[in-house]
Amino acid sequence: MKSSFMAGLMMVASVTLAWAAPPDDALKVSCAGSAAELTLCRNAVADWATRSGHAAVVVEAPSNSGERLKLYEQTLAKGSTELDVLQIDAPWTGLLQNHLLDLAPHSSNIQHRHLGSAVANDTVNNRLVAMPWFIDAGLLFYRKDLLAKHGLRPPRTWEELTQTATIIQQAERDAGNKAMWGYVWQGREYEGLTCNALEWWVTYGAGTFVDQGGRVTVNNPQAVQALKTVAGWVGTISPPEVLKFDEEGSRTVFQNGNAVFMRNWPYAWSLAQASGSSIRGKVGVTVLPKSGNEGGRFGATLGGQQLSVSRYSRKPALAAELVLYLTSTEVQKARAIKGSFNPTMWSLYADNEILKANPFMGELFGVLAFATSRPSASTGSHYFAVSNVISSNVHQVLEGKLAPAEAVTRMEAEMLRIGGNKGWR
Ligand code: GLC
Repeated sequence: MKSSFMAGLMMVASVTLAWAAPPDDALKVSCAGSAAELTLCRNAVADWATRSGHAAVVVEAPSNSGERLKLYEQTLAKGSTELDVLQIDAPWTGLLQNHLLDLAPHSSNIQHRHLGSAVANDTVNNRLVAMPWFIDAGLLFYRKDLLAKHGLRPPRTWEELTQTATIIQQAERDAGNKAMWGYVWQGREYEGLTCNALEWWVTYGAGTFVDQGGRVTVNNPQAVQALKTVAGWVGTISPPEVLKFDEEGSRTVFQNGNAVFMRNWPYAWSLAQASGSSIRGKVGVTVLPKSGNEGGRFGATLGGQQLSVSRYSRKPALAAELVLYLTSTEVQKARAIKGSFNPTMWSLYADNEILKANPFMGELFGVLAFATSRPSASTGSHYFAVSNVISSNVHQVLEGKLAPAEAVTRMEAEMLRIGGNKGWR
């Protein structure tokens, strides 16, 4: 009989597993991500197994953050031993804390060599429930060859991006590439849209939906302005399909040479630069634009993944050892060079091989290290409900079904109903 985690995988994500059911004594590591990301995870787990002499296998989990969380919640709620090590998203540490082992007794204090913001995110009620693995921040990728050809520069404001994208899109279509678009990003209704929306709010000076004290701040004139601008992109500089794009959907268009600008996480860099890539050597990376209006400021959403040990693991000490290996300087360095995953170890930001492979990691260090967190700390166990309010209302605005001003009014009312009135706990 299939284990229920595996059955759940098939049901929720319709993915087929590429390996036979793991032997009972093997540690099971749940990894997610693009094909390249999964390969890096599998290779590192296999290296640990060879070195340590213990069996360990990777169980592929949905890369869609919401689907993965649902599956983890179902598995962990039963106290299941089906997973030992879990790849978890940055805003989940509070939600899953009770199911996760405190890693501090196993860590020999190595966490102090990771970025403080990542360790703070992974420490809940004084328990180190996860080890930082990599951090993400939303970045603007651009075609430097096309900007040079048309005598334009990377945009500093969203207004400039709209203008530049319009000009180059038209010129390139006139020159024969009918598939060219100005700007691709993540508009599907899911956690990734919440990440994009936070960047629109922050760069318009519209706050972070809910502030650090738990006050609902989502409804304000700057937010309405941001939504008006973004809705105006759909079907003009962004393809109508942007409403279905996740990270890989938008990257495919950019990678095929059919977009001038793309919002994405750092991993897109190594794939753009890979041998055989049609855009190799033609891509630049910079901070996302800000609003040209008063109050606009540069910003990026903080993302990233951590590794945790399930409290129900039959081999918690061994699983913790594997987590320490996967998050070690050695593995983080390999992942940074091969996959552009931003390390969480401070020392690696001075590593010449990493900086040579990923110049933006040095140039944009401030953007990466000081990116804005989603309001998961202030909304606690309600974070996912709050995120759904954001992604569903913003999606309706993008579809042209809801006016921006009405959307922010609804978002405020829904957030207050979920928990803001009572203080979120
Ligand atoms: C990336 C980020 C993660 C975010 C997700 C949204 O995986 O690391 O934090 O939630 O994208 O799609």
